[in-house]
Amino acid sequence: MDTGLHARLREAGADALSCAPLLFRPTVEADRAGLESLFSAGRVMHVHDRILDQLRELVRIQSPARRFTAHELDLAVKEHLAGASVTDHGVWVFYPWNGRLVHLLDKADFARVRTDRNRNKITAEEQAVLYTKRIGVIGLSVGQSVSLALALERSFGELRIADHDRLDLSNLNRLRSGVHNLGLPKTVNVAREIAEIDPFLKVTCFHEGITRDNLDRFLLEGGRLDVLVEECDSVDIKILARQRAKAHRIAVVMDTSDRGMIDVERFDLEPERPLLHGLIDHLDPDAAAHTLNAEDKLPFVAPMAGLSTLSKRMKASMIEVGHSLASWPQLASSVFLGGALACDVVRRILLGQLTASGRFHIDPETLLPGADGPAVLVVRSEPPPPLTLRSMRDALPEAHERTKPAYPLDEPTVAQLVEAGAWAPSGGNDQPWRFLHEHGRLYLFHEPARSHSAADPGQLVPMLSLGACVENLLVKAAGVGIALSHELIHHPSEPRLVAVFGSTGPIRPVEHGLSSWLTERCTNRRMGDGSPLGDAARAALHAEVQEIPGALAHLVEGAERLDRVAVLCGEAERLRFLNATCHHELFTKEVRWTDEDAQRTRDGLDLATFEMGASEVLGMQVASDPDAIALVRRWNAGRVFMDLSGPAIRSSSAVLCISMPRMDREHALLAGRAMERAWLRATGLGLAVHPISAPILLGLMAHSAVFDTKEREAIGHCAGGIREVFATGDRSPAFLLRLFRAPAPSVRSLRLPLNTIWANAPAMAIP
Ligand SMILES: Cc1cc2nc3c(=O)[nH]c(=O)nc-3n(C[C@H](O)[C@H](O)[C@H](O)COP(=O)(O)O)c2cc1C
Repeated sequence: MDTGLHARLREAGADALSCAPLLFRPTVEADRAGLESLFSAGRVMHVHDRILDQLRELVRIQSPARRFTAHELDLAVKEHLAGASVTDHGVWVFYPWNGRLVHLLDKADFARVRTDRNRNKITAEEQAVLYTKRIGVIGLSVGQSVSLALALERSFGELRIADHDRLDLSNLNRLRSGVHNLGLPKTVNVAREIAEIDPFLKVTCFHEGITRDNLDRFLLEGGRLDVLVEECDSVDIKILARQRAKAHRIAVVMDTSDRGMIDVERFDLEPERPLLHGLIDHLDPDAAAHTLNAEDKLPFVAPMAGLSTLSKRMKASMIEVGHSLASWPQLASSVFLGGALACDVVRRILLGQLTASGRFHIDPETLLPGADGPAVLVVRSEPPPPLTLRSMRDALPEAHERTKPAYPLDEPTVAQLVEAGAWAPSGGNDQPWRFLHEHGRLYLFHEPARSHSAADPGQLVPMLSLGACVENLLVKAAGVGIALSHELIHHPSEPRLVAVFGSTGPIRPVEHGLSSWLTERCTNRRMGDGSPLGDAARAALHAEVQEIPGALAHLVEGAERLDRVAVLCGEAERLRFLNATCHHELFTKEVRWTDEDAQRTRDGLDLATFEMGASEVLGMQVASDPDAIALVRRWNAGRVFMDLSGPAIRSSSAVLCISMPRMDREHALLAGRAMERAWLRATGLGLAVHPISAPILLGLMAHSAVFDTKEREAIGHCAGGIREVFATGDRSPAFLLRLFRAPAPSVRSLRLPLNTIWANAPAMAIP
């Protein structure tokens, strides 16, 4: 036996990564000796010889029109052997990793028989074309499936595979392998499986996976790839692989194993084609030249994974990753489907039968629709019609009678007051106010069309905002030297009329009062520095809140009590997110996803004001899907929502609770005034302010029809916890403000134009 063969055998036996079978042709002297030494070295564990069956198939295939009897078939095989011994026919294949020695037809006959049933879905000529092609597969999860399908179809001349990972038990829900292969490199697993199907196929392994350094080698060495199948997890490599494939004009195919999504990028036909159909054009793909950190990667992930079109279960599962799930799910059915689809697409590309580029879905759930997931039960109630000038004016005579006489307010003064009112905070930035200037008085109306919510039929939340608005007018008037009288109105037939303002004459402007902070005040959702609140701030806040009749301030400070508040707020946020109606209202009415949206509507919650990182924004996008949320709710999951405000609360100097003797419309208005005073004072003290209203506002809305018994119980638990931790006794908590020290927010929320909120604004008066 020649020493080279010995060496090969030794290597093959000892090398844990061996995946190349050894071929011995008994008619070749050296191979005979090699075979013998295999036996004498005790390397052969099993001998498998079904060569006669293979010969019979070969003979039958060569004369497809003929019907052979068993005897005729054996005669034909004999004839085919032309006197040679059957043992010496073909090739003996030794698989070093399992000690099997298998007797097979030699390459051409083997290929002929093994691909016979491809014909004529793949003709013999097409098959021959495929044998000249090189395919690269990066990532061997879906990639394994693609590789095996391609190997089964014998659709390549060379398959280059790359993955740096090893087989784990948790891979075995979708990767085809036995438990005896656990710990094996995924490349080796695939290469061995292919070699066991067909020892003549050329498979080149990149066990180290794809790196910046070896990418070009993978694409080019041994001949340029004809198609690249990109199935890896790394965002940088995904981008780089496309950039290099484009540069070398190699077509790229990617299957995403969810909803049968498949991407085809024909850089071979369209050299100028943007990467990933232009979906990442707004980003900087050259960023991939540097190693991306987790946050930098995320903007690329959404378009790559097709976030907006993911299946409901995938979205719901993504919400759970890091909480009740260690990683996102992948099913064998989707992976196998992906393997089959990619194999079909690759073959047709190689044969010139498919030229299209784009993103396609071959989704069984859409093609074969069924029922999955709970129904999304949103309680809808018709929004009331907006206030009209007429209905506002109709309320005036009676209101006029019920209010004390006052000096007339002129238009320039009213313009200043309305502008100050507009700066007030409001729930969801809905700005539920409308002004009318008549007979020298200024009337403030509640515009329920702006604040309408099925969860808040009593409309207590907008009363808090309107209270803040009232306070802004009073503070502004004091600042500019107008003694402003105001009366809160309970109009018998027009409940939308909230307050009437008149002047009692000029006064000396209050210097250094709260009015200095009217335009500074804002919501800041950043993290705090955890610095202590300080005695002076504490005293000033208590005093400010007590300016309003009935209002009291309760402060919680210190890590332990803040943590308690964080947990209660977390529970409330989770309840709010998982409730179908609250979820619907948050995402259809409140959130403004883009700057353009925010600029167009000039209301709502501009996502940019949330101070979120890219991963949190992605999370919000996923969580905006009502069907996904319905699943999370059914699974009794959604722990992620408990962390929404927790870290921010824990980073605060204090949380301020404003309490009232009770919470009705009148007290909610007063609570809103107290909240605004505290907010303005805190701003003056250099404190950042962030309302965290969920536990209290849910408590106010608990009796609405949108909550079920279980939710009401949970809301009751949160509300009770808040009363306890702030020691409000039998008073009603009305609002929570997180106080902390931090830089100014990166973005300020916008306001409606004044002529929208001032019903009879003269054009000249608008600043
Ligand atoms: C009644 C009420 C409830 C609010 N609830 C929350 C809340 O739960 N979370 C939050 O981040 N902001 C909350 N805010 C803040 C508003 O979103 C904010 O005031 C509005 O978007 C306007 O922005 P500005 O305060 O920066 O002017 C609330 C404000 C009010 C008046």
